[in-house]
Amino acid sequence: MNKKIAIFDAKKYDIESFDKYKEQFDFVYFKDRLSKDTAILAKGSDAVICFVNDELNDEVLSQLESFGIHGVFLRCAGYNNVDLASAYKHKIHIARVPAYSPHAIAEHAFALILSLNRHIHKAYIRSRDFNFNLEGLKGFDLNNKTIGVVGTGKIGRVFIDIAKGFNMNVICYDPYPIKDSGLNYVSLDEIYEKSDIISLHCPLSQENHHMVNEDTIKKMKKGVMIINTSRGGLIDSKALLEGLKEKKIGAVGLDVYEEEANLFYKDNSFKIIGDDVLSLLITMPNVIITSHQAYLTKEALDNIAETTIMNLNEYFGDSLIKNELCYHCKKSNNPSECYKNRGNRCF
Ligand code: NAI
Repeated sequence: MNKKIAIFDAKKYDIESFDKYKEQFDFVYFKDRLSKDTAILAKGSDAVICFVNDELNDEVLSQLESFGIHGVFLRCAGYNNVDLASAYKHKIHIARVPAYSPHAIAEHAFALILSLNRHIHKAYIRSRDFNFNLEGLKGFDLNNKTIGVVGTGKIGRVFIDIAKGFNMNVICYDPYPIKDSGLNYVSLDEIYEKSDIISLHCPLSQENHHMVNEDTIKKMKKGVMIINTSRGGLIDSKALLEGLKEKKIGAVGLDVYEEEANLFYKDNSFKIIGDDVLSLLITMPNVIITSHQAYLTKEALDNIAETTIMNLNEYFGDSLIKNELCYHCKKSNNPSECYKNRGNRCF
């Protein structure tokens, strides 16, 4: 008999990619996010598949354990929503999809830059109204401008290649610079001080929570464009709004927002939005917000499903789960402590 897998926060496009594997597993799709209120839906399943805004805190994980579920599979790379210590306590293996298409996210970040700079979002609305006036649509050449890239991992590096195609002057910051890469690494302060555009491509952690804040915005160039396709918590949204109001910040492109969990991926068009900061950001002509969609390409969705199936097969096959999030490794921040690096599961 096939294993039963509960898939949370499942949209039509997720179902299309996972249904290709329906001979191997019995998928049960739930449109709701996994949370303390919806965890009960997983009862009777052998494993759970979730996404970026599902809650994997102690309360939810202990519920899953009580249903006999010991495998949770993320359809994403980021895992800031997972309490790894709790997963270890409840003996729940957590695996992710470390890479599915860095191109998808890097290209979306550039789509935001180009749209903001050349006011495509405004021009589109004007021309639909047969208003062909150009007033207010002036942009700037990307050629020779300085772009600061925070995080030179898989996505950051693809993003840098695109920026170089525009003949931009690329400066980077990463606490773990790539040796002999030829990349121009500078301090974070230099990124803030010298960049015409700053794009964030690093994971969210306790250390870099609100790295873009009132103080760091003060260090930036007047008119700077800020792009965030990584995680909302990297930016203090209130400070961002103030920076825009003071005209210190010239443009903002966000694919992620720190309070996105209850809003993104849903049609809220008939609701009153209680988030005043988001509401004001959305009214600004020099802000574009997309709904955590940078990953949304056919290639990325297919890769997510393929890797998740591999993770499931490794889990049920009692073998090493190559994409398991190793609690020991994250706890000590020392790769030699990593059970996985020693060829074992996390526990
Ligand atoms: P990666 O793990 O390949 O690279 C992350 C890089 O960030 C590493 O080089 C690391 O050393 C660096 N880093 C860590 N802490 C840092 C800090 N405090 N400051 C600067 N750099 C730091 O990850 P990848 O695949 O490039 O993804 C980056 C982020 O993009 C993910 O963590 C995730 O939050 C986000 N993402 C967003 C998606 C979307 O649809 N909007 C989809 C996929 C990922």
